[in-house]
Parts: sequence; structure tokens; C-alpha cells
Amino acid sequence: MLLTMLPAKRILLIISGGIAAYKALDLIRRLRERGADVTPVLTRAAEEFVTPLSVSALAGAKVYRDLFDLTDEAEMGHIELSRSADLIVVAPASADLMAKMAGGICNDLASTLLLATDTPVMVAPSMNVRMWEHPATQRNLATLAKDGITFVGPDEGSMACGEYGPGRMAEPLAIVAAMEAHFAGGPLAGKHIVITSGPTHEPIDPVRYIANRSSGAQGAAIAEAVAALGARVTFVTGPARADRPHGVDIIEVETATQMLAAVQGSMPADAAVFAAAVADWRVDGAADQKMKKEKGGLPTLSFAENPDILATVSQGEGRPELVVGFAAETENVIAHATAKRERKGCDWILANDVSPGTGIMGGTENDVTLISADGAEDWPRMGKSQVAERLARRIAEALG
Ligand code: CTP
Repeated sequence: MLLTMLPAKRILLIISGGIAAYKALDLIRRLRERGADVTPVLTRAAEEFVTPLSVSALAGAKVYRDLFDLTDEAEMGHIELSRSADLIVVAPASADLMAKMAGGICNDLASTLLLATDTPVMVAPSMNVRMWEHPATQRNLATLAKDGITFVGPDEGSMACGEYGPGRMAEPLAIVAAMEAHFAGGPLAGKHIVITSGPTHEPIDPVRYIANRSSGAQGAAIAEAVAALGARVTFVTGPARADRPHGVDIIEVETATQMLAAVQGSMPADAAVFAAAVADWRVDGAADQKMKKEKGGLPTLSFAENPDILATVSQGEGRPELVVGFAAETENVIAHATAKRERKGCDWILANDVSPGTGIMGGTENDVTLISADGAEDWPRMGKSQVAERLARRIAEALG
């Protein structure tokens, strides 16, 4: 059976050094089964793991190697090689190659091709768990994601080195699926979605602040889910514990006032999802210097009301076509959330019960009801990423 999901797509496959390089052989096979043209590039380290002969035989094409000679350059220069592809896939991507990419270093064929190109790049990292979790690699990952590079994996599991954790290269079929999604263009392609997430910190003085327990996990999951459907995402986040989402533009803020300014500065948008747990009040006249213990009395804080970002955007000019808010309630969830939707003027409210004992605030699951003009739709309790995926699909339908 000939699978034709990637017909005649020109894939430049860069294989860097690592034990997962053997999986790149299977990836080549899967890509060719689907009709893709694969031009392989091997780094010098990759040649320690797979041979140019096996790569060339499976690809049915010439292998470009780090130690290429002038004949190669005369046949096809590295600039043309990198630009004639529809997609560049780096699988496996070692920590070293990711670091070079993030730093713009080009001291071998693979890194030169990656710097010389304007073709979309997809990266499947593979490395030891400690290397993956190292702040340097995480920094490089964030830089590359900001540069618009998409990532597949890594997966979590036991590794060739005997350790366990994230760092294993995504399976070849998962990489193929990500490539197919890339070429299919998701249902949100061409749409811009602004998402707020996390808590806000409202200063009392330069060292103290008022905050809340939001982890930012639900907002980050929504950002990744809508980005996976092809949307361009601006993610405005307060100081949240959750990992930042990949493949989106991130604006870090601290206070509600800064969050409103960042959201307004990111408009226009086709949709906005307000998942942040914004502090309702800030300290009026926060102290410029650290407040000191004073004899004979406790300090008194007076509060000022923060701007309501959801209401401001919902009722403002140039409002996005679809505005979604959240309602975190501890009682009469549906009634309160329905009233909140009317009051704020948004299209949908995702209402949830955050009473102690539900384990929702700061947890991995959510139990939501979607409130729209059509009434209340109860969703079963599920993981926050499933809630995000379901919401992303609903947003795609609504904007479709
Ligand atoms: N929200 C916002 N800006 C604020 C407060 C809330 O954008 N200053 C958004 C939240 O991101 C969420 C929705 O409004 O999408 C609901 O927030 P919530 O704090 O639950 O509602 P409140 O307006 O505080 O109403 P109440 O105090 O009655 O619960």
C-alpha cells in the first residue's frame, strides 16, 4: 500500500549524533512510504551511530556529510540545499546542535544549513534527561521556540543510558504526524489568539506582594492546543509556576495593570481567552521602600480596584470575534458564571468549581461547564490538556 500523505514534499533531514540516530533510519523509510523526497545530512557525530551508506540506501538519495568537498559545493551550495526544501527536520537533535542553533553558531554543515535557511524547521530533541532538564538546554529551547521553530517530543521513558525521564526522541510515526499537521495547516491557521494566564502579583512594597494560588497550567495548555491547530498565539502570563508553552509569543508581566497593557498592545486578535487569575485589587499607593515594623501598631493596607481585563476587552472597540473568560467559583457555579458572562460581556465562560477538596486549583485536572448564549454544557472531568484541546476545537469551529 502506498501512503501518500506527504506527496513530493522535499524534506531536508538533518541527523545529529546520538543513539536515537538509528530511529532516523525508520523515519526515512516512513517518509518515503508517504511519497516524500528525503535529502539526508549527517553530522560528523551522527556517522558514529549510522553509516552514510545505510542512510543513502534508505533515502534513495545522496547523503550530504559534514566532510563534504568542493564537488558538493559546486553541485549544490549549502544555501541552495537549505532553501530548496519544503521543511527541514532535525531528528535526532542533540543538545549540542540545539545550543548551536540557539546561538547562531555555524561551524559545520548542519549548523550552517540551519542558519542559512528561511525554510520552516522542526526539531525532535534527543538527549539524556539531565541534559534536557539543564537550564542551558531549557533556555535554548525557549529561544528556538521564540524563533518559530516547532518541536516534536522529547518523550518520557527509560533511556539507552539507563536513566528515566524526558529526553527520548519522539517515535518516527509521531514525527511524521507532526509533519503532516504542518503541511495540512490547522483549522486555526492565519488566526491570532491572545491568551492570559497565571496569577498576578500586586506589590505591597518592593519585597512583598499579594498573589493567589493559580499555577498557570490551564492557560499554558490552551496556548499549546490552539497553536497546535495552527493559530499564532500571544501568551500574556503573570509569574506562573507552570512551564511556558512552546511555539508561541510570550509576554511576561507581573501586575493586572501590566497585563491589561500587554493584552491591548497585542490586539487585534480573532479570539482572546482570559485564563489568568487576575487579582481584583491592588494595594493603593504601594510603598517605594520596604515597610518597617513600627512600634505601637500594625500597618493598614488600603486597596484600589484593578482593571477588569476581560470586561474591558469584551466591551471595548475592536473586540475580538470570540472572547472567552473563566469563572472560578466555590458555590452556585452555573448561576454565578451565567451572571458573570452577562456582566462582563464575553461570549463564553468556562466555569469551574475551585472549592478546596476538588483539587482543581493547582492540580492537573479540571471539571468545567461551558456557558454560552445557548446555555450550559457540562464537560466531564478530564486533564487540563484535554480541556484545552476540546476548547481549541470549539474555538476553531466558532471562528471557522
Ligand atoms: N478577569 C480579568 N481581569 C480581572 C479579573 C478577572 O480579566 N481584573 C478575568 C479572569 O481572567 C477570568 C474572569 O475574568 O476569565 C473571571 O474572573 P473572576 O475573578 O472569577 O471573576 P470576578 O470578576 O472577580 O467576579 P467575582 O469576584 O464575583 O468572582
